[in-house]
Amino acid sequence: MSTPRAVRTQVPPEGYAPARDELAGRVILITGSTGGLGRVAALAMAASGAEVVLVGRSLARLQGLYDDIEAAGGGRAVLYPMNLGGAQPDDYAELADRLGNEYGRLDGLLHGAAAFGGLTALSGYPLERWAEVLQVNLNACFLLTRALLPLLGSAPDPVIAFVDDEGARSGGAYWGAYGITKAAVDTFSRILADELECNSHARVLRLDPGPMRTALRALAYPAESPACASAPAERAPGLVFLFGPHGRRLGSGAFDLRPR
Ligand SMILES: NC(=O)c1ccc[n+]([C@@H]2O[C@H](COP(=O)([O-])OP(=O)(O)OC[C@H]3O[C@@H](n4cnc5c(N)ncnc54)[C@H](OP(=O)(O)O)[C@@H]3O)[C@@H](O)[C@H]2O)c1
Repeated sequence: MSTPRAVRTQVPPEGYAPARDELAGRVILITGSTGGLGRVAALAMAASGAEVVLVGRSLARLQGLYDDIEAAGGGRAVLYPMNLGGAQPDDYAELADRLGNEYGRLDGLLHGAAAFGGLTALSGYPLERWAEVLQVNLNACFLLTRALLPLLGSAPDPVIAFVDDEGARSGGAYWGAYGITKAAVDTFSRILADELECNSHARVLRLDPGPMRTALRALAYPAESPACASAPAERAPGLVFLFGPHGRRLGSGAFDLRPR
């Protein structure tokens, strides 16, 4: 029996196209910006006028993305090389200080980074890999969110977004640390949303991108035909919609970014 899908609001609505200035004046930080979904988010948000802070572990890949954003015109990009697998609380505090000094606020945070770790039975799961996946997928979400909450609180319409993977977190064999972190991040985002509901105007989003042709998916589904997943770029309009003024109407919650 297949697991019933959770109720999510599908975005964007039919007929929506992002305006060139839809995110103008917004500063949005993206982790995993050099990956499939993060890169698409960076390009689309910059093209809609946002200033994007690109977090990634490879300076060369960050620079390639920067060049593509510049070539397309639109918003400004700032590079922030950071390996989430090894970053310490002080590194997150330094990032928050730098953003505070530069902008005094943060309008959006997209937790797009994820390490897969491989399809492995729990009985033989290598300890180092376990620690790395938990660090990148779960602890970094906590540390980054905690460090940036004060700056997000200073923005007029702040958004904090987590990326769901329902198939991985539902408890199937061999999903290992990746599946466990996805379940934990889902709960983390619900607790955060509940805590912020009454004392903050921040929106907390759980985004389901559906199957995307990315490096991570190739590891998770090695035998899958590429035709079974769509290009991450198809999530771009939904991301801009949610991080901009239209998303405000919808508030916090779970959103489906799959192409129709
Ligand atoms: N693809 C799917 O079908 C699918 C389905 C459901 C949910 N998701 C979720 O969508 C999100 C994006 O995944 P994706 O498919 O776009 O994967 P991806 O293309 O493999 O991108 C993953 C990103 O995470 C970064 N990353 C990994 N380890 C890191 C570390 N130690 N420090 C800093 N960054 C690190 C990667 O950096 P590098 O560029 O340096 O490798 C890359 O930018 C993830 O949360 C994933 O769980 C994906």
